[in-house]
Amino acid sequence: MQVLKLGGSVLTKKSGYLEEDQKNIDMIAEMLGKGWKDGIRDIILIHGAGSFGHPLVVKYNLDNGVKTDEQKRGAAETHSACVRLSTMFVDALNKNGVPAVSIPPAFLGKLKNKRISEFNRKPIDMLLELGYMPVLHGDMLPDSELGCAVCSGDQLVSWFGKDANRTILGTNVDGVLADGELVPEIHQSNFEEVSAHFTDAEHADVTGGMKGKIKELLGLGKPSYIANALYPERIEALLKGEKTLSTLVQ
Ligand SMILES: Nc1ncnc2c1ncn2[C@@H]1O[C@H](COP(=O)(O)OP(=O)(O)OP(=O)(O)O)[C@@H](O)[C@H]1O
Ligand SMILES: [Mg+2]
Repeated sequence: MQVLKLGGSVLTKKSGYLEEDQKNIDMIAEMLGKGWKDGIRDIILIHGAGSFGHPLVVKYNLDNGVKTDEQKRGAAETHSACVRLSTMFVDALNKNGVPAVSIPPAFLGKLKNKRISEFNRKPIDMLLELGYMPVLHGDMLPDSELGCAVCSGDQLVSWFGKDANRTILGTNVDGVLADGELVPEIHQSNFEEVSAHFTDAEHADVTGGMKGKIKELLGLGKPSYIANALYPERIEALLKGEKTLSTLVQ
């Protein structure tokens, strides 16, 4: 089983408000459709929320829990927007011959202080076994301490990546960059040095942007790749176990 995450920076216009990037959605769905025909069928697909999540979390102040009625309405609206984005992506996958099925993590998982404490993965394994492509996404999840909180697609990657043969993250840059140069490999011992090069994403990424991503990946205890999904052929190469331009995190 492979875990593939596609960033909200690819599927949406991240600077917008509830704005999908249909061109990118179609381009990636086409690549995955081709892969499906070629027999790459062992993928748990995860995607970020991009402009269907981050701006709403900021607008309703959901980052440190959900307590008030206003926040509850905001959490419900955020969940609904994430589901809408997922439906758009899944529709494109279906059109390209991939029997993809979206399952909102809100119904399967529970957090404790913003970290996943429980996740019922049975529905996902069942879909895989039956020959479907399960699709998960960043979402608002119940939280035993905070009422409800954000669970990023990146955190889902660190949960499911533990059991995967390969973990790939597609985003809108070539990988981790330092002074404009691609860092080919990140590990515990050069993390601090590379950290100096993380800048705040141009548009508020409530789950920590690139730095948050690397922290999740280092916790995985297994190698994973960050690559530019705006060049779908790079993601395709990684799915086939081939080398391509990317950052290896291990
Ligand atoms: N040193 C760095 N190298 C590469 N990207 C960086 C660096 N520092 C900050 N970034 C930013 O991190 C962004 C990628 O992380 P981000 O979380 O925004 O994307 P994503 O995971 O695709 O989206 P989402 O979180 O919505 O799924 C890049 O677009 C870039 O602007
Ligand atoms: Mg992010």
